[in-house]
Amino acid sequence: MLYEPREDSYLLGKQVSKCAFGDVLDIGTGTAIQALAAANSKYVRSVVAVDINPAAIEYCKKNIRNPKIAFKKSDLFDSVSGQFDTIILNPPYLPADPNEPAESAIATTGGRHGYEIMERFFGQAKDYLEDAGVIIFLISSLTNPLKVESIMIDHGFTFKRIARQKISFEELYVYTAEKSPIIKKLHGIKNITFLAKGHRGIVYSGLYKGKKIAIKVDLSPGHVSRVDMESRWLKILNKKNIGPKLLHSAKDFLIMEYIDGERLFDYVQRSNKNQIRHIIQDVFEQCYVMDMLQINKEEMHHPVKHIIITAEGARLIDFERCKKALDPKNVTQFCQFLTSGSFAYGLENKGLIINKRILKFAQKYKHDPSRKNFDSILEEI
Ligand SMILES: C[S@@+](CC[C@H](N)C(=O)[O-])C[C@H]1O[C@@H](n2cnc3c(N)ncnc32)[C@H](O)[C@@H]1O
Repeated sequence: MLYEPREDSYLLGKQVSKCAFGDVLDIGTGTAIQALAAANSKYVRSVVAVDINPAAIEYCKKNIRNPKIAFKKSDLFDSVSGQFDTIILNPPYLPADPNEPAESAIATTGGRHGYEIMERFFGQAKDYLEDAGVIIFLISSLTNPLKVESIMIDHGFTFKRIARQKISFEELYVYTAEKSPIIKKLHGIKNITFLAKGHRGIVYSGLYKGKKIAIKVDLSPGHVSRVDMESRWLKILNKKNIGPKLLHSAKDFLIMEYIDGERLFDYVQRSNKNQIRHIIQDVFEQCYVMDMLQINKEEMHHPVKHIIITAEGARLIDFERCKKALDPKNVTQFCQFLTSGSFAYGLENKGLIINKRILKFAQKYKHDPSRKNFDSILEEI
């Protein structure tokens, strides 16, 4: 069953005629309406047109002879190679409808919510788009455009809505998307993949010269960029073997070693008392070094997301909130963390009961952060 061109096809086709250039990839080509619109432009050199539906490819090969266009069966980018100046997509964009037959759903249903196919698409598109390239695509008000926009941001794209049309109970939108300026700067880094999103930034993983790296991007750097601050702290702390190794820094992004390991809670659950004790001491030693440097990490009272356990020991991450402080609180905050809340409960379950006495030693350390007072804290672990 082929998708016969309709309002969405014509709305997108108009923009394709205006915007497509260079080497073009048309995904979900159907009856090739977008591929033909592109091929008719004098700015277009070649078109690769793919569809997951073998019937669509068979139809196109039989009925369309255009020297600029090559047809191929592919699930999104799976059978595609190379990079393109223009990528066109008129995806199946509706939320799943249990009453719809599978043969038409392939052309209309984008997943349970409708936008899942866009998640897959933008997860892969970067590697197939030239740095100066453009993606032209269409979705509907039923696809959840805000969600699709946040998917684009997460995957390092900027976007513009360039056309819209109301049709009975929905509205159609045509977008263009481009690689964000930062993503364009990350030349030589492969497999850039969204990892996590914070208040102001995004973290990606990537591969550089065969090594896995992490890239932190400040989305709204403003006057003081948090990422810039983190680079400064990492430069100091790396000298003491604390934090992921900083590999490159700029005002609005940094590249650092990717720390592969386990979260603290998971580690505690599967480890024995001695292993846990060793890790806690490791974290304490790093807290002590930061105290001596008068750098406050500001979050050691609840560091569960900021400690990763690797084969080499505990590694602290996320230094963007660090502050210079005359009375740093890393050690004392970590004491509080160990004696309260669900983490203390988890330790108790492993037979590691930390006596509240540690808080008295922490008080003493607070007034006199000497090695001797620090050691008396360590002895309580
Ligand atoms: C809404 S139709 C668009 C057809 C045509 N491009 C147009 O504008 O009229 C969506 C097309 O995407 C194809 N398709 C669906 N999922 C796909 C996937 N994962 N990879 C490639 N094509 C896919 C369908 O077979 C269908 O031909």
